[in-house]
Amino acid sequence: MNHEGPDDSVSQMLVHLRAAHLLRAAVVLDLADTLEDEALSVADLAVRTGTDPGVLGRLLAALASFGVFTLTEDGRYAHTALSRTMCSTHPVGRILAQDLKSDATWQAWSNLAAAAKEGRSPFAVVHGTDFYSYISEHDPEQAANFHQAMNNATEEDNGDVVAALGLPATGLVVDVGGGRGGLLRDVLRAAPELRGVLFDVEGVIADALPELVSDPLASRCETVAGDALAAVPEGADLYLLRFILHNWGDEDCVRILESCARAAKPGSRIVVVEVLLEKSGTPDAYTAMADMGMFVLFGSQERTEAEYAGLFERAGLEYRGSTATESLHLFEAVAR
Ligand SMILES: C[S@@+](CC[C@H](N)C(=O)[O-])C[C@H]1O[C@@H](n2cnc3c(N)ncnc32)[C@H](O)[C@@H]1O
Repeated sequence: MNHEGPDDSVSQMLVHLRAAHLLRAAVVLDLADTLEDEALSVADLAVRTGTDPGVLGRLLAALASFGVFTLTEDGRYAHTALSRTMCSTHPVGRILAQDLKSDATWQAWSNLAAAAKEGRSPFAVVHGTDFYSYISEHDPEQAANFHQAMNNATEEDNGDVVAALGLPATGLVVDVGGGRGGLLRDVLRAAPELRGVLFDVEGVIADALPELVSDPLASRCETVAGDALAAVPEGADLYLLRFILHNWGDEDCVRILESCARAAKPGSRIVVVEVLLEKSGTPDAYTAMADMGMFVLFGSQERTEAEYAGLFERAGLEYRGSTATESLHLFEAVAR
């Protein structure tokens, strides 16, 4: 067989697709956590994970062919550097749990072709509702995994975003859809006179980070539950929306920005933080997958600068321009 032409690249994509299934099985069966620091025989691992030893042995051999776990000389399986990142204590492991544990999310990805025919989000095609409603109503484990993974995944960008924001020394900042509050915590730590409101849906607000709701930040920070499509807290000098608009179609984005426009004072800043989609051509794989991920779960998309500017203008806000950080863009408008 020829292993050098374009045919081989497509075969490689198929190998990686199957590898993704192996990875998912490892995550669902909690293999990485079960192994801990001890090398275990397949028989022991099978007992601890409630699996068939014959099937598990083949699964482990296949995973080891990708460097996930390794077979020791005495015939047991041990961690590799790669498989250690899959433990639930590691940030990558938490993202894997969020992405791979839920049947609902996996089924959505598997229905991409059907969704392309229907022209709507695979998640909605399969489950008949949107992702956030589904996880809060039917899948509390996925909801907890999602919000924790979001908080962890965005943690490393907080410093860059805070630096690029040019924070006011005083006044009020509202983090719209702020999740568990990692960004707001870092904003308030960077500007000791600033007050903050963490705004999100009820289930998420109930699980706000302990640092935000205890001293010393608690005296400068409120948590408010609500629906940004309807209204957001009034009177802020700065409204922050990080990774919010990419979860929504254009009409809902305009509704969220209109909520900000109604709540803001003239001159208040509204800053949207997102991944930038280039105007044309083929995006890099990371951006392309971010965009597909938005489509699969939310029927939404990543956007170009012109598209963000258009959404601000439709909501009656005056677009002022963008600032790049290493991996994200800040799109800024002011209230008229
Ligand atoms: C992708 S997460 C981003 C979280 C956070 N801004 C960050 O950067 O880590 C989107 C957030 O929007 C929240 N959200 C979803 N629907 C909402 C609504 N109708 N009103 C307010 N927040 C909402 C979700 O609960 C979630 O915390």
